[in-house]
Amino acid sequence: MTILLRGVRLYGEGDEVDVAVDDGQIAAIGAGLDVPGDAEIIDARGQVLLPGFVDLHTHLREPGREYAEDIETGSAAAALGGFTAVFAMANTDPVADSAVVTDHVWSRGQQVGLVDVHPVGAVTIGLKGKQLTEMGLMAAGVGRVRMFSDDGLCVEDPLVMRRALEYASGLGVLIAQHAEEPRLTVGAVAHEGPNAARLGLAGWPRAAEESIVARDALLARDAGARVHICHASTAGTVELLRWARAQGISITAEVTPHHLLLDDSRLNTYDGVNRVNPPLREASDAVALRQALADGVIDCVATDHAPHGTHEKCCEFANARPGMLGLQTALSVVVETMVNPGLLTWRDVARVMSEAPAAIVGLPDQGRPLEVGEPANLTVIDPSATWTVHGPALASRSDNTPYEAMELPATVTATLLRGTVTARDGKAGA
Ligand code: DOR
Ligand code: ZN
Repeated sequence: MTILLRGVRLYGEGDEVDVAVDDGQIAAIGAGLDVPGDAEIIDARGQVLLPGFVDLHTHLREPGREYAEDIETGSAAAALGGFTAVFAMANTDPVADSAVVTDHVWSRGQQVGLVDVHPVGAVTIGLKGKQLTEMGLMAAGVGRVRMFSDDGLCVEDPLVMRRALEYASGLGVLIAQHAEEPRLTVGAVAHEGPNAARLGLAGWPRAAEESIVARDALLARDAGARVHICHASTAGTVELLRWARAQGISITAEVTPHHLLLDDSRLNTYDGVNRVNPPLREASDAVALRQALADGVIDCVATDHAPHGTHEKCCEFANARPGMLGLQTALSVVVETMVNPGLLTWRDVARVMSEAPAAIVGLPDQGRPLEVGEPANLTVIDPSATWTVHGPALASRSDNTPYEAMELPATVTATLLRGTVTARDGKAGA
């Protein structure tokens, strides 16, 4: 059936046009398009049309911790957030270190049908950092694994990391590093700085991240490989990325919405909802991260959506599990921190939330131009709307949003995956 998006502005630019979607593709673009009588019309006058968002970093908790999230609830959150593809991290139980698990994640995502759930394979067996997984078998499975990461944990041993980069380079897949030198973060729960000192919280120094970013840049250079840095969180990481790029090293990086908006001044309440790895840094780091995203030194936004149950968050700060929900609030936080202050245009949002992540991981059907004949993976946004975040009202099985009761700009009014509406006016469903 034909769907007509009435009156959208492509990339938020130019005049309002109609976009007809048929057979999974963009069928026509123009003013006042004629459509068949049975077409579904989505009145989106004045709204922004972007390619569907791609999230390189989510935790959907299936298999193993379905009380916190599963592929169905996480997919609904993704569709409502405007995403058409997400990458589900490997720190599940069992760990996604074999094709049995990665194929399940892909197949279950297809069965749910709200977003393409791409499995991330583990770099090392059981995330133990010792023995490489059979990346080739996972890459060749039905889940077609394109990205490998031990996220949640750092691939700490430099020789293991070197071999992983070499192996991945031969297979044409990507290694994504959770950059954390674990000898520098023993017992750490908050950014090492004046706030943690005053509150009596054990500190996580910037150098824990930056030393691994520097090391892995050098390892990637020598292996002639690509490396991707998860959740960059410090101004120093930005400087290292800039340096590595200038040397011609193939290094890419993501930043989370929460590291763009929030800082460690929030920790005063000792509310476990603010615990996350890497920790919320200082306001000056957030400023550097925003500028780096604007300049292209950081390539893309990734949510690090990390659901946890109430019993895991509503407890003493040091015992709270690290992680924050992110899928349904990502766009709004990007608008608040980047679009409204004039650091990014809507055209740039398409780049950092869709085109760049799709390119980093080599997805052929995502982040495509808004042109006739292209796959209809689309996000429609009301740029003038505002909404108030309320954890229990989000589609995730968990409520651990750090934005509770905050009013944020912009709403996703519709998401289309290959021409099927997966979310509309706040309701998910294909
Ligand atoms: O805060 C985090 N939560 N950081 C990570 O690296 C892992 C994640 C999780 O799995 O909960
Ligand atoms: Zn991580």
